[in-house]
Amino acid sequence: MSSTTTLDGRTAVVTGATGGMGRAIVAALVGSGANVVATDRDDRHADALLASAADAPGGVVFVPGDVSIADDVAAVVDEATSRHGRLDCAVNAAAIEFETVPLADCADDDFDRMMAVNVRGVFLSMKHELRAMLDTASGRHGGGASIVNIASTNSFRPQHDQPAYTASKHAVLGLTRSAAMDYSVHGIRVNAICPGAIDTPMLRQAMERRGRDVDDVAKRLSRFGRFGEPSEIANAALWLCSDASSFTTGHALAVDGGMLAT
Ligand SMILES: NC(=O)c1ccc[n+]([C@@H]2O[C@H](COP(=O)([O-])OP(=O)(O)OC[C@H]3O[C@@H](n4cnc5c(N)ncnc54)[C@H](O)[C@@H]3O)[C@@H](O)[C@H]2O)c1
Repeated sequence: MSSTTTLDGRTAVVTGATGGMGRAIVAALVGSGANVVATDRDDRHADALLASAADAPGGVVFVPGDVSIADDVAAVVDEATSRHGRLDCAVNAAAIEFETVPLADCADDDFDRMMAVNVRGVFLSMKHELRAMLDTASGRHGGGASIVNIASTNSFRPQHDQPAYTASKHAVLGLTRSAAMDYSVHGIRVNAICPGAIDTPMLRQAMERRGRDVDDVAKRLSRFGRFGEPSEIANAALWLCSDASSFTTGHALAVDGGMLAT
């Protein structure tokens, strides 16, 4: 079994690809030789995403889409298989977070919106990715196809005033573990990354909404006293996509500066 993180000749899908983490994940996969089909409902950073991969060993195409809409998700996966004939890896990073109230004040529509993107979006993505991977996967003991879902430390430990987001990230772990169990026999590994506080637009907007001080939050949420960088999540995603993690499935990998350990 290979111990390297090369993805030469592999095809990957990345959702939430123009977001803070998504862009770093695409860069890591393309830099390791993968051909990436990147998708996001927001195409504002799509040109920069394509430009950043210009000199990389792999390649990237951008397909706009909403992960809560089944036809959009199917079109993204179809793009990967029709272009490259296979799907080996997927990183599902698309999500929303906008809450500032406890459960009794959570609007019904807000709960539904969070579930539609963060849970249904991951469900639909995995469903179409798994179907394509079943046509591709060959390894029966790991080293075949790999799905990585971006969950959260909220999957284990809630922050205040995030009832729907916390529930949605618990559900992402449920989908991850269920699929890991059912598809290991096909050589498909399914894992989650649980990021702590990572410096992306999502985190910055959450702190602004709550009027939080950046240094205070960084000290409280990380043993290193700083936020994580998107590239630190991307490195973990690359490892989980690659054969270097061939015996790892159903795992929730905290990349959180020690937050859950203390
Ligand atoms: N930043 C953090 O501190 C942190 C911590 C824990 C978990 N996470 C998780 O990491 C992942 C990446 O988040 P990020 O921090 O890069 O945030 P981000 O807001 O920068 O990126 C999220 C991306 O998802 C896209 N998206 C949202 N709804 C979509 C939809 N319906 N269809 C398609 N795309 C959609 C957005 O357009 C955006 O580009 C998310 O799953 C998030 O929940 C982030």
